[in-house]
Amino acid sequence: MNLFIADAGARSFWMPEVASEYAANVDGLFAFILYLSTFFFILLGFLAFYWAWKYRASVAGDRKSSPIAHNFKLEFLWSAVPAALLVVMFVWGFSDYATVTAAPADALDLRIIGRQWSWSVGYPSMGRECISEQNERGVEVVEFYAPVGRPLKLQMSSEDVIHSFWIPAFRMKRDALPNRYTGFVVTPTREGTFPVYCAEYCGEKHSQMEGRLHVLSQEAWEEKFVNSDLCKMGADDPDYGKNLFARNGCSACHATTEGQPATIGPNLFGTYGTEVDTDKGTVMVDEDYLRESIEEPQAKIVKGFERSGAMPSFKGKLNETEMGALIDYIKNLK
Ligand code: CUA
Repeated sequence: MNLFIADAGARSFWMPEVASEYAANVDGLFAFILYLSTFFFILLGFLAFYWAWKYRASVAGDRKSSPIAHNFKLEFLWSAVPAALLVVMFVWGFSDYATVTAAPADALDLRIIGRQWSWSVGYPSMGRECISEQNERGVEVVEFYAPVGRPLKLQMSSEDVIHSFWIPAFRMKRDALPNRYTGFVVTPTREGTFPVYCAEYCGEKHSQMEGRLHVLSQEAWEEKFVNSDLCKMGADDPDYGKNLFARNGCSACHATTEGQPATIGPNLFGTYGTEVDTDKGTVMVDEDYLRESIEEPQAKIVKGFERSGAMPSFKGKLNETEMGALIDYIKNLK
């Protein structure tokens, strides 16, 4: 039995089960650093005591020590060996980091929203959002679902303070921040139910925002989630984003069809993923820029439009679900 590295699926002595494609790598790196640190701790501790004893005063008598100014070999060794070990840790850690940030094309998008004190999990491509429910202990638990073997692309944000979305069985944790998106990519490798926690102290009920991720076989996923009414909350209308666009008056100033001339604000058709010239330089139209333009329209004015004509701020007028749906709508104008 290996104390520190769990076999696929099994719990180890002190690690939760391994349920993602890189969980075992994370454990391996952790164990490597732990064993290495333990080795040096014991070695150096032993030498310190051994030499303290060997050269103690009663043996040395009144002999003076002979100071050593330099020892090139020793100095080289104690620099090169730790440096080489650190390079190993860096390369190992960085290659794992690369896998958690690069999303394959077939990834399932999940939109994670944290707030004091609950999580909600949206499925933008399916128009669904799983909302938390309070259990008998007063803990807000969001139950959500994913198929086994398909990469998940998680995008996180917060409606208030900093939270941290943590799935221990996946060995993945990332902060959910207000006004900025963060994320990671993970592929569940086992069916089962895995707990989710908030790992950043966020106030009184920090310990009471939880989740349960149900990883299902492809058939069970189709049957229990895709073809069911689970998580169909208000936002399940495919026209939700479009309706918000109209309801908030966006359509009064922004055209959304190809070739239509811009009116008060830029035509939004096909802008996502392109670069636009603004008075603060060229910017990429991505989720963060769209969000900034909705919340702080004065931040960057697209060339050809008047600063004085900039739209009012929508900061605080849209909740995270609405903001996400609106941005999705703009993204899909193509
Ligand atoms: Cu949210 Cu701690």
